[in-house]
Amino acid sequence: MLIRRTLLWLSNRRALRRWVETSPVARRVTSRFIAGLQLQDALEVCRRLNVQGVLVTLDHLGEHVVSAEQVHASRQAYLEALGQIYELGLNSTVSVKLSQFGLDVSESLCYENVEAVVREAARVGTSVEIDMESLAYVDRTLALVRRLHARYGHVRGVIQAYLRRSREDLQLLCEAGVPVRLCKGAYSEPPSAAFTSRRQIRQNFLRLAEILLARGVYPGFATHDQWLIMEILRRARERGLAPDSYEFQMLYGIRRELGRRLVADGYRVRLYVPYGDAWYPYFMRRLGEHPSNLLLLLVNLVRG
Ligand code: FDA
Repeated sequence: MLIRRTLLWLSNRRALRRWVETSPVARRVTSRFIAGLQLQDALEVCRRLNVQGVLVTLDHLGEHVVSAEQVHASRQAYLEALGQIYELGLNSTVSVKLSQFGLDVSESLCYENVEAVVREAARVGTSVEIDMESLAYVDRTLALVRRLHARYGHVRGVIQAYLRRSREDLQLLCEAGVPVRLCKGAYSEPPSAAFTSRRQIRQNFLRLAEILLARGVYPGFATHDQWLIMEILRRARERGLAPDSYEFQMLYGIRRELGRRLVADGYRVRLYVPYGDAWYPYFMRRLGEHPSNLLLLLVNLVRG
């Protein structure tokens, strides 16, 4: 927990970020988790995964933008990605963070720009998955998800199983017919708001998964936790659900073998494929989830 908190704290340090982002050593390690710096890199990964029967969601990395110009740049990056998904006939959604669309600058600016992306996604026949960030963003993110879904469809919301409030939030999304991605949660939240033990988080994940299996619209179970995946599969089978009525979601570069096995067994798997140069906070969250990745970084640092 301490390592995770420290890494999340470090993820907001600008000087360290500059150093890591320009270090060729770090780049070598991050290539395991990040498809590349350019959209073309991500499209190539997406094409390869689609051929293997794997679905994708593309994430143009970036968060906490502070100007209208940066928001415009995020919007353009996603419009371009959607255009290419359509042109190349790829099976991919896109994932966005609202802080990358200026939620900290102005809610209306954020709404207008995400709306443009959702409209384009609807036009090309795919969806926008709206990632959930730290607790301070949850109310505003859910409000925007519901508003966009009511107007356009083609939107998926995210619920974090570590938050104590998530059961109510999930019920509201299910009532509104919003598709949901369920994940454990990647930020550092106080015990008053979040479960902190692995056992409690797993338990809550399963409770929420039950709601999704019973009443969710095409739910996405985003986890690499094999025990949880097997448990969800068992419960889905007990309910007689068709394997194409839900999906598992995993992060690019993590538990590849498990993902392959699920696809071979006829289940749907979607990989979250990040690309772009603003990869530092994303990478630090991955280190925080699994501090053994630090070892990978250190070995590469020593090798030089
Ligand atoms: P857990 O952390 O217990 O990992 C299970 C096993 O998977 C580990 O034992 C290990 O083998 C492997 N593993 C997991 N993470 C690893 C890593 N970083 N490096 C190496 N191995 C690793 N969170 C959030 O707050 N908002 C969001 O919008 C999203 N979106 C999202 C989308 C998708 C597709 C996924 C898979 C995850 C997210 N998350 C997220 C992140 C999520 O909340 C959570 O932090 C991670 O998925 C890690 O939790 P697991 O459920 O994988 O379990």
